[in-house]
Amino acid sequence: MFDNELIEINDLKSPKGTLVLGHLPQFNTYNKHQVLERWVEECGELFKIHFVGKEFVVSANPDFNNKMLRLRPEGFKRFSKIDEILKEMGVDGVFNAEGDAWKRHRKPTAEALSVKNVKAYYPVILDKTNEVLKKFKNYSKQGTIVDVQKEFMAFTIDITTEIAFGHKLDTINNKSNRFQKHLEVIFPMINTRVTAPIPIWRYFKRKKDKILIDSLKSIEKVIYEFINDAKKRITENPALKEQPSNFLEALLVENKDANFTDEEIYGNVFTMLLAGEDTTSNTLSWGMFYLAQHPEVVVKVREEAILVYSEDVPHIYENVDDLKYANAVAQEAMRLKPTTPQLYLEANEDVIVENVSIPKGTSIILQNKVAQTHNDYFSNPNSFIPERWIESECPMHKNHVPSVMRAFGGGARYCPGMHLAKTEMIVLISTLCKHFDFKLEVEPETIREQFEFTMYPENLKITFVPVK
Ligand code: HEM
Repeated sequence: MFDNELIEINDLKSPKGTLVLGHLPQFNTYNKHQVLERWVEECGELFKIHFVGKEFVVSANPDFNNKMLRLRPEGFKRFSKIDEILKEMGVDGVFNAEGDAWKRHRKPTAEALSVKNVKAYYPVILDKTNEVLKKFKNYSKQGTIVDVQKEFMAFTIDITTEIAFGHKLDTINNKSNRFQKHLEVIFPMINTRVTAPIPIWRYFKRKKDKILIDSLKSIEKVIYEFINDAKKRITENPALKEQPSNFLEALLVENKDANFTDEEIYGNVFTMLLAGEDTTSNTLSWGMFYLAQHPEVVVKVREEAILVYSEDVPHIYENVDDLKYANAVAQEAMRLKPTTPQLYLEANEDVIVENVSIPKGTSIILQNKVAQTHNDYFSNPNSFIPERWIESECPMHKNHVPSVMRAFGGGARYCPGMHLAKTEMIVLISTLCKHFDFKLEVEPETIREQFEFTMYPENLKITFVPVK
């Protein structure tokens, strides 16, 4: 991949930056990922940057990135500041655990999100899909311009919370939801703190730091109540051991070997909320961004829906497997607009990967989006063509390298929520296309990629026109 000669980090190029602050002023914006993309254009696939003296290697090479992801948990871990910040907030779960601790967390988490359990959660997904459909029918009657980003967030919040611990929220119908308000305070602060060069909050509590402390306390209180309730339910009803009705119950049932403390159970339930909400709703929003500009794709999703199910929604879990084109739409949206366009790693030991010598402690940013939208790996890389994911229909087998897709990460730590997320997305995309055409109410150029905790489309406004 890289030259045969050993590459040392010291020899890597850097984009233009300032002496003291380094590349921080350029990076400290709403579109960090695009700054990284510009630097890839300027310096190539491998370069280094620094933020006030803290050095990062940036790689946009898919083979190199894939190898590093696969060398986890032994060779690489997540950027250590992620764990530091989450632990400081009292969160000790699978996302920030490392080494043997991670193995303990990962097994029951992956089990709790297994295909078998997602099947058991399917009625929740259907119920919330029906709610969105009802609401959007009303919107379409009234000609309301819909902020889809907000609506899809409500959809994933309601599903994730019910699946996480059996708590029924009704964010879709704007029911007051203090629990979610607290999470909305916490999530962006994680990102802000992980990327902050100086941990000011440790020396001086600003107003936003005090609000964060209050929100963390409130969330903790509620989740601990849920943990105690779930324990009681399982003792009273042993049948739940065979078929747990939510993630928390599944985690408690799978907990035989892991012996989690209540703090770790709390950490993992919190992690579910953190990892499962924005990622899924933002991908749905990007899907809608493309569907609204491609009526011919909407018609194909609709034709498939009509063939697969006669009801308003794909009413049985087995329908999802047959909704191959709706799945391809989600996949293509993730290729073009991955909501986590970069991942942050750190080397656990001195290691040579693809001729690059990486000393222990090196921090590395894996820029994965560049390859997903590069002509070497996908023909017509910037065009929205779901057909490329359906083998018999792919109009461009010339360049098609699915293995560079990193939307769900890679190696042993790939996203365990992938099956749940895909199920939610396929069901909602199929249902909406079955019932509506979409009209984009703003110019596509005005829809910005905004990176907060994950990357979403800002200013996406759509009207829903009922299918005759
Ligand atoms: C479209 C939706 C989603 C996307 C794009 C996404 C993406 C990702 C990515 C990129 C990672 C990092 C993987 C790595 O380091 O290799 C990750 C990890 C994770 N995701 Fe997701 N995710 C989504 C939905 C979900 C859902 C619905 C859940 C659960 C409710 C979830 C739970 C997790 C967990 C627990 C981890 C940490 C895994 C570990 O460290 O072992 N994700 N996700």
